[in-house]
Amino acid sequence: EFHLHPKKLALSSDGPMGKFDRQQLQRGFQVYKEVCSACHSMRLVAFRNLTELGYTEDEVKAIAANWATQTPSIDPATGEPTTRKPLPQDYIPSPHANETAARAANNNALPPDLSLITKARHGGAAYVYSLLTGYQDPPAELAKKFPDAMPGPGLNYNPYFANLNIAMANPLGSDGIVTYSDGTNATREQMAKDVAAFLVWTAEPTLEKRHQTGWAVLIFLIIATGLGYMAYRNVWAGVK
Ligand code: HEM
Repeated sequence: EFHLHPKKLALSSDGPMGKFDRQQLQRGFQVYKEVCSACHSMRLVAFRNLTELGYTEDEVKAIAANWATQTPSIDPATGEPTTRKPLPQDYIPSPHANETAARAANNNALPPDLSLITKARHGGAAYVYSLLTGYQDPPAELAKKFPDAMPGPGLNYNPYFANLNIAMANPLGSDGIVTYSDGTNATREQMAKDVAAFLVWTAEPTLEKRHQTGWAVLIFLIIATGLGYMAYRNVWAGVK
């Protein structure tokens, strides 16, 4: 009774005609870069993929070179592990060297990789949006009915999270924590929507292609059905 279904979220990529809103994807990427990437990796997206959001190759080079985390590498001189500046062909580097380091930085909780999160969680983008805008004080009845479900140390009440208590503190705690380069007002709502839209793209960058192919297939099948029917009429035309 305390756990809630995701709120409604309307995105331009929804439905069989859906297309990405590239301006929104860029804003969502900005939120990921400036907020989420401090804790969450994005192992399936390479910097060069960002050209699909409308960034130029030079912009992508700069985004990679200025990324907050370096890319793991091998020193050619010594053969020892080292790090270097990311290049456009590199995948976005994880903020943590490994799971142990990630847990050590997060009260022993593990921030999941966000590449496929809108496919991995029931509710998809609407779930991510609801989770990000769903932080609140635990309702008074919770303490009465289920005192054990009250948030313990280091946990935050969020009715959209399956067990009501999430280790992630509200990452979009106040309006304006990013300054959008397109001038959009960065309210908490707006940032949550934009990053959810961006995470739909990371999980399925070929969504538009799939929608288009679906329509082409349907139209072909309708025409093929019409031809088949006409052929049938023709073949049986002389038979009583
Ligand atoms: C979990 C998104 C920022 C730390 C999650 C989950 C999502 C998410 C979707 C998974 C919830 C689930 O398992 O169903 C985001 C987004 C962020 C963001 C979109 C940026 C707007 C951060 C930051 C930190 C962080 C900045 C660290 C300071 C964590 C941790 C978990 C988590 C530790 C695991 C929680 C648990 O299992 O209880 N986040 N996150 N996140 N996030 Fe974030």
